[in-house]
Amino acid sequence: MCSFRFLFVLLSIHILFLKPCLAEKGIDWLAFGDIRGNIETCGCDPRTDLGGIERIASLIARERAKDPHILVLDLGNNFHKNEAIKSKYLAHGLSLIRADASLVNYSELQTDHKLWGKRPFVIGNLDKSHVAFPLTQPYIIHKNTVVMGYHWDEEHKKYLKRWDHQLQQTYHKIIQEYPDHKKVLLFSGPMPDLRKATKSSWFDLIVSSNTKHEDEKPGFEEKENPDSLMRLDQPFIRMVPLGGVGVLRGGKLMQQEAPSVAKLLESSNNSSSPQAFPSLTDNLNTQKIDSFPISSIAVSWLDYTFDEGSPLKDLMREYNTETKEVFEKIAKSRLKDLKNSPFIGAAACKSCHPDAFKKWSESGHAKAYDILTKAGKDKDPECVSCHVLGFSEKGGFISKTKSPQFAHVQCENCHGPRKSHSLNPSVKPPQHEPKKICTSCHHVPHSSNFVYEKYWKKIEHGK
Ligand code: HEC
Ligand code: HEC
Ligand code: HEC
Ligand code: HEC
Repeated sequence: MCSFRFLFVLLSIHILFLKPCLAEKGIDWLAFGDIRGNIETCGCDPRTDLGGIERIASLIARERAKDPHILVLDLGNNFHKNEAIKSKYLAHGLSLIRADASLVNYSELQTDHKLWGKRPFVIGNLDKSHVAFPLTQPYIIHKNTVVMGYHWDEEHKKYLKRWDHQLQQTYHKIIQEYPDHKKVLLFSGPMPDLRKATKSSWFDLIVSSNTKHEDEKPGFEEKENPDSLMRLDQPFIRMVPLGGVGVLRGGKLMQQEAPSVAKLLESSNNSSSPQAFPSLTDNLNTQKIDSFPISSIAVSWLDYTFDEGSPLKDLMREYNTETKEVFEKIAKSRLKDLKNSPFIGAAACKSCHPDAFKKWSESGHAKAYDILTKAGKDKDPECVSCHVLGFSEKGGFISKTKSPQFAHVQCENCHGPRKSHSLNPSVKPPQHEPKKICTSCHHVPHSSNFVYEKYWKKIEHGK
């Protein structure tokens, strides 16, 4: 963190010399949200290796290093109710990112506000009689912009006021108070409400929360079809990508992405002249920003190039330490089941099924745990669950030292526990359908290209 601060100071010095940009013309903004507990990518599949809080922070830091005044919008809905540890670190990470406005969305209403962290929260339709959300404000002023928020969902309707004539008056009052400001609405709710908000023509910009179902996992679809992020088929009403896999860019940030931290450092080291620092106004397209179609440049997809220089490196290290502690706890509690394990491990199959064994030992399945070790994630219970034998079953993998014979994806992942069979080959595990088991691991986001026939060919065996 310290080194990053140093970098930031270094860059700020340069920013003083930058010629004034065109910020006044439009609103220069970044927006993310709907992280929904996806704190980091798994790296299982290059196609879906996108997003994570560390990369979001890295992108925002880069853009702020170029222009500290950009408006950073957080659409909320960043936690997941089943992911307490992740939510804790997400909250901390979001506090460090310091969005200029965060919408109180579904997951914020689901969680204790103590988890939200110290962030400027905005929501304009919260019922004032409700005291559980002391951090919220009806609007936030950032430079020449007033940011308002609206959220509606049936589950929390007792806390919220729906978009109607009366509420419209409330928004209108704020708008009249700031005649010279740009107006932004952070929106999360159904179509009819969005239509009303649009019809008012009060807002220079409406950014929407992602409308995909609560249980949907982030994938690659939005990257491959960015037009799916439009609402009401209006290019200027955009949804943030699901799962924090990308960040929306608006205003001048639509035209040009910030260079990498390495590049910024390089240019500040190489030359004492501020001109060496690339200006965002270079190559600026004069097309009206609102009429810009959604194109690839309007979203920064957070691939591995954003791993570099994130201000959240230390925080993620702490997160890893805590998941390791959880792992050790689970391991301790599982140790007692090892003695009577129904599993035996692949080595025991070798003598009677030599061909199957050979094929398996040459496959990636036989190295699946080593990959986690290399990635430093061999003690993250979530990752381990798909990269070893029987992590969620009695007598399955405990740890590399206590049960090395159960590391990696093994015969018994697909053929069921086989200790009894190894002693008496006529014994079969019940409900034995190896073909059907693949997709318990090979699904999006972990394996987006999975097709049984194609994959089976690579590991085909018998006898
Ligand atoms: C739902 C099961 C599942 C979970 C959970 C999971 N993985 Fe994977 N992982 C897979 C599958 C399946 C593949 C193979 C993907 C393919 O080739 O189509 C894979 C592949 C990988 C690879 C790439 C292997 C290669 O050959 O390049 C890495 C690295 C990896 N996983 C790391 C992780 C990490 C780190 C985590 C935890 C954050 C994790 N995995 C969680 C199922 C899972
Ligand atoms: C002592 C020799 C022996 C060992 C050890 C052994 N098997 Fe077998 N296995 C056989 C024989 C013999 C058959 C054929 C039995 C039959 O069809 O009734 C068989 C059949 C199978 C079959 C196909 C029929 C079925 O049960 O679904 C699978 C799958 C299988 N074994 C998996 C394994 C795995 C996995 C291991 C290691 C954990 C293993 N075997 C260990 C001898 C062995
Ligand atoms: C990734 C899952 C997977 C792994 C790992 C795996 N198998 Fe298989 N195995 C299958 C599938 C799927 C079939 C084909 C079943 C079918 O065609 O109905 C099969 C077929 C077999 C058969 C022939 C079954 C029969 O009815 O004739 C044997 C024997 C067998 N495997 C043994 C093993 C052994 C031993 C290992 C480990 C050394 C192993 N397999 C690892 C999925 C797997
Ligand atoms: C317990 C989780 C799990 C199950 C079940 C599973 N896999 Fe995998 N599979 C993985 C992981 C993890 C990897 C990545 C390992 C690596 O690349 O080293 C992987 C990688 C693969 C690969 C690429 C590795 C290579 O050698 O090229 C193929 C092919 C594959 N799996 C096929 C299958 C098929 C077919 C099935 C079902 C019959 C299946 N898998 C079931 C977890 C699983």
